[in-house]
Amino acid sequence: MAQIHPKTTPIYQTSVFTFEDLNDLELYFEQPEQKYMYTRYGNPNSDELAEEVNKLEGGAGAVATSSGMSAILTAVLTYCQSGDHVLCAEEIYGGSSALLSQELTRMGIAVSYVPSDTLYTLQEFVQPNTKLLLAETMSNPLLQVVDLKRLAEETKRMGIKLVVDNTFASPVITRPLALGADLVIHSVTKYLSGHSDVTAGVVVTKNSEDSNRSKQIMRTYGLNLSPFESWLAARGLKTLKLRMRQHCTNAQAIAEMLEQHPHVKKVWYPGLAQHPQHQLAKEQGQGMFGGMLSFKLKDDAPETVNAFMQALQQIPFAPSLAGVSTSISHPLRTSHRSLNPAQQQKLGITLGLIRLSVGIEETEELLADLKQALEKV
Ligand SMILES: Cc1ncc(COP(=O)(O)O)c(C=O)c1O
Repeated sequence: MAQIHPKTTPIYQTSVFTFEDLNDLELYFEQPEQKYMYTRYGNPNSDELAEEVNKLEGGAGAVATSSGMSAILTAVLTYCQSGDHVLCAEEIYGGSSALLSQELTRMGIAVSYVPSDTLYTLQEFVQPNTKLLLAETMSNPLLQVVDLKRLAEETKRMGIKLVVDNTFASPVITRPLALGADLVIHSVTKYLSGHSDVTAGVVVTKNSEDSNRSKQIMRTYGLNLSPFESWLAARGLKTLKLRMRQHCTNAQAIAEMLEQHPHVKKVWYPGLAQHPQHQLAKEQGQGMFGGMLSFKLKDDAPETVNAFMQALQQIPFAPSLAGVSTSISHPLRTSHRSLNPAQQQKLGITLGLIRLSVGIEETEELLADLKQALEKV
């Protein structure tokens, strides 16, 4: 048969690979990176995805996982065992704090939360058994931007690892490993795959020892990503840079419009001059501020929030983010639902808070839809 050279990687939709004989099997054990045996241990599609993200993040190795949550689990287990302690920035995705507080504590890994105003002075939080700090480059949903270089200096000083969830920024905007982080995770479900049709995660490490350990955890806990999801995510990744540019352009235009609108009380977007970390975001993000923003209506009664959502013609209410089409969400009732009322209040997650995941549509179309909906509240 003539040699066939596909331009794109085919989908290796198989759970297992075959061997000629025992000699062939030995080759796998001698050079596992050259061959495949069983898809849970490794598959060309998940390896392609991991390698592409590894290049973008500038890591020493990466592993694809079945979700962002399994990436966070892999990250924690790379450094911790029963009896250890982790620190977590207080402003964090609700699922991450649920994993730490409700599940990993049951397995003997304790957690303490660090308020954002003490993030760069960790002395009073670090214990002899503290192994790492988990923080997000840009927090969800109020877009607080963390100074990763400063944070990395502090975690190094304290002798603990810095684990960064870079989901909201993507490596197009910020590369945490270059700023001193030890490990980066993504919910690939979001910008990296980009089309709201994949659930996936990735762990990227600064050194190869941590990479080997995270791969071992993925394999042993069975946290692998399927070949098809890997293929879809790798396909989405090819347009990441282009998409991020348009996400940022649209979000900036919308944030500026909302900031001036008489029915809007407050807007949270790092690209606005009044954002508390605007200058830092500008430097750390190379002039790009991302596609996520949050805002509060002047009248934040539940009926008003509902009326606004119902009046939108093109923007659906969907409790996820970072797809090519714009969607709206309500953090109090979705991502931060599991927190108690005092925690929600403390973080500023109130009823009137609306989060917008700005897509890559024509800017004017999005502005028009939002304006007409605001006129109806
Ligand atoms: C910042 C952040 N990290 C992690 C996750 C978890 O990712 P996944 O839903 O892919 O498991 C999410 C999900 O929304 C997220 O927003």
